Amino acid sequence: MLYLAILCLATCIASSSTHARGEWEDGLNFRFPNVTSPQPFNISVEPAFVNETLTKVSLYRPSRDIFSTWTNEGPARANITELASYWATDYDWFHVQDQINSNFSHYATSVTGIENYTAPVPLHFVHERSADPDAIPLLLLHGWPSTHLEWQKVIKPLSSQAGNVSFHVVAPDLPGYGFSPAPTQPMTVQSMGYAMDALMRQLGYDKYGIVSTDLGWFVGLWMVADVGSNVIGHFSDFWFIQPNATDLARFANNETTPEETDYINTLNAWTASHEAYLLTHSTKPLAISLAMSDSPVGFAGWAWDLIRTVSGGYMYETADIITSTMMLYIQGTHGNIRLYLEAFKPSIQAWPATTIPTAVSEWSWAGGPFPELANAAAPLSWAQRTANVTFYNHHDSGGHFPAISETDAWIEDLQAFFSQIVS
Ligand SMILES: *[C@@H]1O[C@H](CO)[C@@H](O)[C@H](O)[C@H]1NC(C)=O
Ligand SMILES: *[C@@H]1O[C@H](CO)[C@@H](O)[C@H](O)[C@H]1NC(C)=O
Ligand SMILES: *[C@@H]1O[C@H](CO)[C@@H](O)[C@H](O)[C@H]1NC(C)=O
Ligand SMILES: *[C@@H]1O[C@H](CO)[C@@H](O)[C@H](O)[C@H]1NC(C)=O
Ligand SMILES: *[C@@H]1O[C@H](CO)[C@@H](O)[C@H](O)[C@H]1NC(C)=O
Ligand SMILES: *[C@@H]1O[C@H](CO)[C@@H](O)[C@H](O)[C@H]1NC(C)=O
Ligand SMILES: *[C@@H]1O[C@H](CO)[C@@H](O)[C@H](O)[C@H]1NC(C)=O
Ligand SMILES: *[C@@H]1O[C@H](CO)[C@@H](O)[C@H](O)[C@H]1NC(C)=O
Ligand SMILES: *[C@@H]1O[C@H](CO)[C@@H](O)[C@H](O)[C@H]1NC(C)=O
Ligand SMILES: *[C@@H]1O[C@H](CO)[C@@H](O)[C@H](O)[C@H]1NC(C)=O
Repeated sequence: MLYLAILCLATCIASSSTHARGEWEDGLNFRFPNVTSPQPFNISVEPAFVNETLTKVSLYRPSRDIFSTWTNEGPARANITELASYWATDYDWFHVQDQINSNFSHYATSVTGIENYTAPVPLHFVHERSADPDAIPLLLLHGWPSTHLEWQKVIKPLSSQAGNVSFHVVAPDLPGYGFSPAPTQPMTVQSMGYAMDALMRQLGYDKYGIVSTDLGWFVGLWMVADVGSNVIGHFSDFWFIQPNATDLARFANNETTPEETDYINTLNAWTASHEAYLLTHSTKPLAISLAMSDSPVGFAGWAWDLIRTVSGGYMYETADIITSTMMLYIQGTHGNIRLYLEAFKPSIQAWPATTIPTAVSEWSWAGGPFPELANAAAPLSWAQRTANVTFYNHHDSGGHFPAISETDAWIEDLQAFFSQIVS
């Protein structure tokens, strides 16, 4: 008996320490149920992890930089120390978590049978159904450094029949983002698209619309190609189209239209001075994630610098920057940063032409800190090379996150596009 008790003392200490972590899934830092169909879900991050994060935040070592303002080299010391100090003293993750849980209906599920991906794909998603049973099922695909929270201002208006069309809104966190656990094997953009389609069909939505932005646009474009018979229309506010060799030759000969010239100049300015994060994420996602997953403030600065570059002058609250950071930091950054490697493989950018009705809703980056990036809207004729563009609108402001910065105008574009499709 005594012998057994001693044995237990040894193994029970070992198992109680693994148990503390095991309950939160190895390294995941939040609860996720082992389920195969949609179950109501509350976000619940391990308190000890939140506490450990605050300790790291409070130990933040300010940079020794030579600038007093935010430059194209990165954030100024003052902006980051201010963020760190707000995070350490005023920011309350558990309050944010309660809001996220109470603002929307959250679910957890997993989907299986995904092409080239042998494990189940666990997914967290928001599902807000319209009171109109005939509403259009709508899948919202965010990018980086976003999560389903990029849609927080549009979910209720879209599902509440405020416009002439209403929607059953499905807003997942992409695998590796927010509270969808990261893939445990390399997952292609196409496989991710199949997983998103499987989610919609698991919910009983055999025909649905897609809304995409940023990296979600790559996923959406492949869904239109691979599972297009299920898709009634694709709306995107992001058209990061690359010039082809003929365009570049015309550009070199001064034969491009003024619109094409402006856009190519913007792409060149982007490549010359603002693309470091994309090159790093798409070539060394694991190496950069080692630092990003270890320093919450460092990661916040990295993401904020990009957000500021592309937001068209829209100013985020410090708390929102911290929340965005937490959403990617909690489970670790490799699982989300790695999507760049998949999205920027040259073969992945060669999506086939589609007949699916497509909305091109473009937003200028004028008003942001870098005037040379103002003309970030690809020419309509370039979008038409692969997409059946049935709706086009160009806005003179808005930046890269228009669902946040220009919510009403963004919703109006979306309503106009889908009302065409169903009328
Ligand atoms: C999840 O549940 C399935 C059966 O429903 C089981 O086979 C599997 O081992 C469980 N996975 C984990 C990680 O517990
Ligand atoms: C989520 O939290 C709310 C409020 O605490 C509670 O009423 C609900 O039962 C919880 N749901 C789940 C699935 O845990
Ligand atoms: C939080 O971390 C501090 C050390 O930074 C520790 O003293 C404290 O007990 C921890 N609190 C909880 C609730 O884990
Ligand atoms: C950085 O800090 C300066 C000085 O407080 C402030 O004017 C500026 O708006 C901050 N930048 C951002 C992006 O918040
Ligand atoms: C939740 O809803 C409240 C009230 O509409 C809003 O102020 C807050 O920003 C929302 N928070 C999140 C995390 O969605
Ligand atoms: C699966 O792999 C094959 C062979 O590499 C490739 O042709 C196909 O596009 C892949 N499918 C997905 C969904 O990634
Ligand atoms: C570039 O696109 C234009 C318009 O579709 C096409 O005429 C041209 O052949 C393309 N050039 C190359 C090298 O693909
Ligand atoms: C294009 O225009 C620029 C500036 O107007 C001029 O310097 C250059 O020589 C032109 N190039 C060609 C190939 O005509
Ligand atoms: C584009 O979509 C519309 C609406 O579904 C359809 O009538 C038209 O034939 C499509 N055009 C092309 C070129 O695929
Ligand atoms: C629906 O509303 C949108 C946005 O307000 C508008 O552009 C569109 O014409 C309307 N469609 C119909 C069929 O009334």
